[in-house]
Amino acid sequence: MTAPLVDIADLVIGYDTGMRQVRALDGASLRIDEDETLAIVGESGSGKTTLGMAAGRLLPPEAKVIGGSIHVAGVDVTRADDEALRRLRHDKLGFVFQNPTTALDPTLRIGRQVALAMGGRPPPEAIAELLSRAELNESERILRAFPHELSGGMAQRVVIAMAIARRPHLLIADEPTASLDASIREKVMSTLGRLRAESGASLVILSHDLRMVARHADRVAVMYGGRIVELGSVTRVMQAPAHPYTRALLTAAAGNERPGERLCPIPGTPPILESRCEACAYADRCAFRETRCDTERPEARPFLGREVVCHRAEAVIGAPTQARQEDR
Ligand SMILES: Nc1ncnc2c1ncn2[C@@H]1O[C@H](COP(=O)(O)OP(=O)(O)OP(=O)(O)O)[C@@H](O)[C@H]1O
Ligand SMILES: [Mg+2]
Repeated sequence: MTAPLVDIADLVIGYDTGMRQVRALDGASLRIDEDETLAIVGESGSGKTTLGMAAGRLLPPEAKVIGGSIHVAGVDVTRADDEALRRLRHDKLGFVFQNPTTALDPTLRIGRQVALAMGGRPPPEAIAELLSRAELNESERILRAFPHELSGGMAQRVVIAMAIARRPHLLIADEPTASLDASIREKVMSTLGRLRAESGASLVILSHDLRMVARHADRVAVMYGGRIVELGSVTRVMQAPAHPYTRALLTAAAGNERPGERLCPIPGTPPILESRCEACAYADRCAFRETRCDTERPEARPFLGREVVCHRAEAVIGAPTQARQEDR
């Protein structure tokens, strides 16, 4: 068996905030294969960005790795020296962030930025070809433009073109369409998916919108309280969620939020942890809660073709659909 492209094991990351430490990841484990699209979904604060940035050790200085390990393309990310990390980021990783205008340098013409992303002085045909792969026509006009002269959708396509310029093995897209108009989100997601498939890279999409990403992913990882609480194929997880949080995310009305708006459709608020959670982090919002959920930390276990972190998965999966309305 070949090693997975990404292997994150029991990762614990805290942010020092001066007064206290916020435990953003509380034992997150995840493997990502070659040539797949994985969606990581969860409400704001569940730890998606922390997990995504940890893969390239791109976290801010206040972030501390407290435990666990991260291996990406054979590199031990938490222990690698600066040169090994630089090579990993340069040769193997590509990032697409939520807001394309902050990802681009406002003082440089697009042509210069794309050329830099391609490694220096590529021939003009190569630049035009890269842009057309990202479905940007009129490449001459775009290359002469400054970032503020492009629409949000075009700017994000430029960022995507730059992210794939060096043929990364792993593309991490953090809310790639959240700042775009609803009318072009699907198109930008399709472009991203097509480019991934053409290159054979793996794509990780971080998002709060389970329904949107499910249309574009092979597998889904649901995050809550800094852990992956359900992980499986999109079809299996969407048709019959085994974690009550996944179920609540699915029941929640989606699709009517405005661009950039964060949904928080489940009653109650996600936890902000300061130390290891010794119970189920979801217990106080859960319709399936029983005594042990307050006293025993659930561990990941295989369950009906996926992995789930829940004491009550058998009850959740067996509950009638009608009850899902009451989960809310
Ligand atoms: N630089 C930071 N300093 C202190 N706390 C932070 C920092 N970055 C993130 N956190 C905290 O870590 C936790 C996880 O945050 P993270 O940004 O990874 O979540 P997320 O799932 O990406 O959320 P969102 O959907 O809002 O982007 C949250 O409680 C957040 O407040
Ligand atoms: Mg985030």
